[in-house]
Amino acid sequence: MKKIVACILITFGCISLSHAAGDAVAGQGQTALCAACHGADGNSMVGNFPKLAGQGERYLIKQMNDIRSGARSVPEMTGMLNNLDDQSIADIAAYFAAQTGSIGAAKPELVEAGEMMYRAGNAAKGIAACSACHSPTGSGNAQAGFPALGGQHADYTIKQLKDFRTETRMNDDAKIMRQVAALMSDKEIAAVASYIQGLSK
Ligand code: HEC
Ligand code: HEC
Repeated sequence: MKKIVACILITFGCISLSHAAGDAVAGQGQTALCAACHGADGNSMVGNFPKLAGQGERYLIKQMNDIRSGARSVPEMTGMLNNLDDQSIADIAAYFAAQTGSIGAAKPELVEAGEMMYRAGNAAKGIAACSACHSPTGSGNAQAGFPALGGQHADYTIKQLKDFRTETRMNDDAKIMRQVAALMSDKEIAAVASYIQGLSK
């Protein structure tokens, strides 16, 4: 039995090694430009600039590729990723993934509604619980590419949910988030975003 477990662990170890090709030290050297908006360690101080610290590598790589190709429009970053090859993108992702994300605070008056939405969704409206994919602690599922949300700025989360709702952001595979956001009211978005800002990974 022990042998079987060891074999399985080795197999998974190799699989995750072959995916985790990024070098965080090499990546750090390429983030000087990014630091102006996202913070040197990926903890941005501005509500509209997302925190990248502690975000999953797979998700970060996908977003950088989508921003570079234009599949996701981020005017603030126009041209910034054009000179980076796949290795550099992987290295930068490894660097930010290795940083510790800071946690903010939720507005006390929104905690109850926000927590309800996050953990249970809204069955009457057909909204799935966020925790099912983004995990109960908000740490996401790095292997699956489901982003970590815990501690993210509420302003940024609100903008993303509204962008998904209006299909301004359309780089979510299989419309996974556009379908969720389409069913959400502004009030529900504000509550869950505030709750997420205080959610600890
Ligand atoms: C001038 C400010 C600015 C600079 C500089 C900048 N970004 Fe961004 N970045 C943004 C904004 C704003 C967004 C979110 C846009 C939106 O609302 O969708 C973003 C989004 C992202 C995202 C997606 C995050 C997520 O949670 O989905 C990644 C990854 C990213 N940036 C990486 C980088 C990297 C790597 C660099 C440096 C090479 C960089 N950015 C430089 C402003 C900037
Ligand atoms: C079935 C799985 C699933 C459910 C349920 C789900 N999400 Fe997501 N969510 C995803 C995936 C996958 C992405 C990444 C999309 C992409 O690749 O751009 C995502 C992206 C996001 C983003 C963008 C993160 C960023 O850094 O830009 C936010 C915000 C978000 N989800 C919030 C929520 C909230 C709030 C709920 C609950 C109301 C929810 N999600 C429910 C799978 C899910």
